[in-house]
Amino acid sequence: MTLVNRILPAEPITTLDDYLAAGGGRAIGAAHQVDADTLIAEVEASGLRGRGGAGFPTGTKWRTVAANRAPELPTTVVVNAAEGEPGTFKDRTILRTNPYAVIEGAIVAAIAVGSSEVVVALKEREPVDRRQVAGAVDEMRATGLLGDIVVRIVTGPAEYLFGEETALLEVVDGRAPLPRIAPPYRRGVVEVVEHDDDVESGSGLAAHVEMAGPGPATVAPPALVDNVETLANVTRIVAEGADWFRALGTERSPGTIVCTVTGDVRRPAVGEVALGTTVREAIETIGGGPVRDRPVKAVLNGVSAAPLPATLLDTPLTYEDMAAVGSGLGTASLIVVGEGTDMTAVAAGAARFLAVESCGQCTPCKADGLTIADTLDRLCAGNGSQVDLDTVGKALSTVADGARCNLARQQQDVIGPIIAGWDDEIVRRATGEAEAVAPMLITEVTALADGEVTLDEAWRAKQPDWTYDDEWSGSYPADELGDHREESG
Ligand SMILES: Cc1cc2nc3c(=O)[nH]c(=O)nc-3n(C[C@H](O)[C@H](O)[C@H](O)COP(=O)(O)O)c2cc1C
Ligand code: SF4
Repeated sequence: MTLVNRILPAEPITTLDDYLAAGGGRAIGAAHQVDADTLIAEVEASGLRGRGGAGFPTGTKWRTVAANRAPELPTTVVVNAAEGEPGTFKDRTILRTNPYAVIEGAIVAAIAVGSSEVVVALKEREPVDRRQVAGAVDEMRATGLLGDIVVRIVTGPAEYLFGEETALLEVVDGRAPLPRIAPPYRRGVVEVVEHDDDVESGSGLAAHVEMAGPGPATVAPPALVDNVETLANVTRIVAEGADWFRALGTERSPGTIVCTVTGDVRRPAVGEVALGTTVREAIETIGGGPVRDRPVKAVLNGVSAAPLPATLLDTPLTYEDMAAVGSGLGTASLIVVGEGTDMTAVAAGAARFLAVESCGQCTPCKADGLTIADTLDRLCAGNGSQVDLDTVGKALSTVADGARCNLARQQQDVIGPIIAGWDDEIVRRATGEAEAVAPMLITEVTALADGEVTLDEAWRAKQPDWTYDDEWSGSYPADELGDHREESG
């Protein structure tokens, strides 16, 4: 099994000339040659599924957005570059090595859904990506490639929820990242918030978004939100054709996947492989295999799907195979856990991340999430009992009640299988038979280069109200930032 270079070039593409010389720029031309229906049909025929985690068929989404266009209000295409899934660094790697392909894919999407505006939404703390995208947009505009489509850059907060698509639209509209009820095809962007002092690119205004409470519930046109990797794939599909795209991967999971391999491996890295490559092969080829003397015990897939035990390492990385073993492909964020790591510590780390990052608009998500995290901490510290296991089980059964986004269900999808799969270890903690262990730090990757991964260590001090104060105020982020409980959808 070898690495593939469809989306990730072997060497970074740093100028538009190099991009065009490598065959870039043809997708926009091809998109202009056909009508929107034909363009969308080509993306549907490719079988491309969204690479932001949910795996929704891209062509189907484009058709829904196109069908829901508002007669006099513009549709916006939003590039989801808010990457924050623990263990993932693939979107930033794509943007840093080939921003042109992502922007070209977004322009193709705009042509398909009849939009004249593209917004690239990325984290404010990633100035490298912002400069990279702004520079690429300037170059592409100067050569006329973008036509009359305006491309703007919006930067948002560090919160994990910023990447959730409706929270992303809230940020683009100038508010805090609190998920909405209405999906993007029903309620998109009202108005991109702009600050003149942040203008960085002659091609469009770069906008900076401060956290603020919600504005009035306004009727808005639809938006198309697509992930960075998804749009980079669109560029290749439209330039080369759906059949070319399907030459790699499986019938139901065509194409490639850009994986991030971190944790107990020799060389943490991002790499692209054909879909259908096994988890074991991806760990070997991208991450250099497990660290010496630490055979793989489990592989976390970010905090979005059930971890795989070592017995399932030969599972192919496809949507269907990962689902068949009770997990999911997600963003192919493979965090390798070596033998010797306590799975209660892993569960406690994942539960804490999700509980802190929960916005609290849905009370069970925040309250039960914190109960799960606190109780697992107690088990890690060696102070637990059978009652704690019951408490976790009960909180897991209610945490997703009335949830408006998927974050709450992620507690069930990740923590439930750890408790079920490694019950002997966890029960030993409840009977005081195991040594105290610190919960594992599970948080965002802030850098990944030359085999070195950096986690957001500062996140350890983040409180459940999203402040970094010495103590938690006891309130939820939604209490402070305003929520949408009154919103009808
Ligand atoms: C808590 C949470 C965080 C998410 N973070 C991201 C993210 O950082 N980037 C992303 O593309 N999608 C993220 N998603 C998924 C998006 O909501 C959405 O499915 C995706 O942007 C759609 O694009 P796609 O169809 O191209 O995958 C997140 C979802 C949830 C529930
Ligand atoms: S499910 Fe959790 S994170 Fe999602 S909107 Fe509700 S409280 Fe917020």
